[in-house]
Amino acid sequence: MDKKSILITGGAGFIGSHVVRLFVNKYPDTTIVNYDKLTYAGNLENLLDVERSSNYRFEKGDILDEKKLAAVFEEYKIDAVIHLAAESHVDRSISNPLEFVNTNITGTATLMNVAKEFWNGNFENKLFYHVSTDEVYGSLGETGYFTEETPYDPRSPYSASKASSDHLVRAYFHTYGFPIVISNCSNNYGANQFPEKLIPLFINNIKSNLPLPVYGKGDNVRDWLWVVDHAQAIDVIFNNSKLGETYNIGGNNEWTNIALIKALCKIMDQKLGRKEGDSEKLITYVKDREGHDKRYAIDASKLKRDLDWEPSIQFEEGLEDTVDWYLKNEEWLSRVTSGDYKNYYQKQYQER
Ligand code: NAD
Ligand code: TYD
Repeated sequence: MDKKSILITGGAGFIGSHVVRLFVNKYPDTTIVNYDKLTYAGNLENLLDVERSSNYRFEKGDILDEKKLAAVFEEYKIDAVIHLAAESHVDRSISNPLEFVNTNITGTATLMNVAKEFWNGNFENKLFYHVSTDEVYGSLGETGYFTEETPYDPRSPYSASKASSDHLVRAYFHTYGFPIVISNCSNNYGANQFPEKLIPLFINNIKSNLPLPVYGKGDNVRDWLWVVDHAQAIDVIFNNSKLGETYNIGGNNEWTNIALIKALCKIMDQKLGRKEGDSEKLITYVKDREGHDKRYAIDASKLKRDLDWEPSIQFEEGLEDTVDWYLKNEEWLSRVTSGDYKNYYQKQYQER
């Protein structure tokens, strides 16, 4: 690692917390600054195990706050950014698109401007790593895969805002020689995911005997990747990619929602000592999501070919591990669902 100080935005969120943990532990001589606004999705309890590490710092801030960002760049002499901060939930983007435009588009441009200003044209050994999604490519039919050459065709306010930010990041590369790399990843699952997304929401509902709201017919297809594997892919790309590159990251692991939900129900029946089939009875078909993308599938062969990365575990193993984590961390789940986790920040980090 040739970077002395890395700013990770959105480090208190789901994927960000796994990236922070990996970098703090793997690079003890590099200062890792977690910059996060702590929206409803940001939870510092995700990082209890690393918060006392000598190379970890937390800065509460908004990526739209140019002044605060500039002060943080100056204080830590930041020489690389891994940008994960975003509004990330498709359903929320349908009810509140402007929030996604502000954070995901304007926030990304603001962050790049501050980095560009601070680095002041000297981009040697500097990097801006933009973490994005496969949803920018739109929706597939029965066949085919998203490659890095697939034209962008976003169809939800969330994916349109991420696509815009990707375009801006590439535009800064071409226009200013700004040192960027982008990765577009498929659906992540694992520990610490906010229980609004499919897998943690359904684990929580099964546990509490609540209905499992399946959108439409449940025949939409997603490719699922274990979040720890995503963090590892980010590390590999961060350290080895050429500037200006894009990599797709995926799990080679397509599931229809209904097949995944049934697999999850089966694991939950075993773990909770219920009769096989009990949890499936909670499945309830509800009105479909507006503009619901039919299928996402990633061709991650470029990443395998160039940087020799591939997922480390099979989905069945990752899903069981995930269920075990949520069942073992009942307190985390109940504090997140009740909103109590917000008090942790107040106690631990007084407003600066
Ligand atoms: P998340 O919603 O769990 O976390 C987002 C984090 O960003 C939170 O900690 C939140 O407090 C912070 N944040 C939000 N707005 C902010 C702002 N204005 N300033 C500073 N911090 C702010 O999201 P996630 O699922 O961990 O996703 C992280 C990134 O990865 C996002 O950019 C997302 O688009 C991308 N991504 C997610 C997935 C997935 O399956 N979850 C897949 C591919 C790519
Ligand atoms: P989600 O976890 O929101 O991720 P994304 O929309 O980014 O793929 O949803 C995954 C799939 O599960 C998606 O096809 C929508 C579906 N879904 C449901 O059927 N019910 C739900 O309650 C949720 C949250 C999602």
